[in-house]
Amino acid sequence: MQVPHGDYLISDDPARLDVAAIHAYLGCSYWAEGIPLDTVTRALQGSLCLGVYTADSVQVGLVRIVSDYATFAYVCDVYVLEAHRGHGLAQAAMKAALDHPKLQGLRRLNLVTRDAHGLYARFGFTPVARPDRYMEKLTPNAYRKPAAGA
Ligand SMILES: CC(C)(COP(=O)(O)OP(=O)(O)OC[C@H]1O[C@@H](n2cnc3c(N)ncnc32)[C@H](O)[C@@H]1OP(=O)(O)O)[C@@H](O)C(=O)NCCC(=O)NCCS
Repeated sequence: MQVPHGDYLISDDPARLDVAAIHAYLGCSYWAEGIPLDTVTRALQGSLCLGVYTADSVQVGLVRIVSDYATFAYVCDVYVLEAHRGHGLAQAAMKAALDHPKLQGLRRLNLVTRDAHGLYARFGFTPVARPDRYMEKLTPNAYRKPAAGA
C-alpha cells in the first residue's frame, strides 16, 4: 500500500522502515521511554506498520498496528516528527491504516492516548463504553535496565 499525501508518502513496506529513527523517537516518547532497540525491532516485525516518508525517503512518522487481522487491532506508536506536524500527516496515516485491506471487518480496535483523543475521535474512536469490563496488566518499568550488580 502506498498513499501519497502532498510531498509525502505513506507506505506499509516493512523494508522502508528506519528502525534506528523509530527507536530514537520512541525512546524519548512519553509512552515508551527507554525502550531498547531490539524491543522496537521485534515490535515492528510483529506489526503492520505504516511509515510516513518525505520525497527523499526520510521517515518522519509512524502508525503501528498490532492485529490478528480477523477480529481485533491495537493502534500504537503514532507519531509525526515535530518539523512535519500540522500538515495532516497523522490523519492521513491513520486513514491509510484503517483503510488497509488486512484490517477490514474487525470487531474492535483499541488504543491508549494521553491527549490526542480529538485526532482519533475523527475516526470513530470513543471513550471505553464499559470501563468496568476492561482490565490490563501493566509493567511500568518494563524497559528500565536493571541496576548494575542487581
Ligand atoms: C499527535 C500527532 C501524531 C499529530 O500529528 P500531525 O501530523 O501534526 O497531525 P495532523 O496534522 O494530521 O492533525 C491532527 C489533528 O488532530 C488534532 N489533535 C487532537 N489532539 C491532538 C494532539 N494531542 N496532538 C496533535 N494534534 C491533535 C489536531 O488539532 C489536528 O486537527 P486540525 O487539523 O483540525 O487542527 C503529533 O502531534 C505527534 O507526533 N505528537 C507526539 C506523539 C503523540 O502524542 N502521539 C500520539 C500518541 S497516542
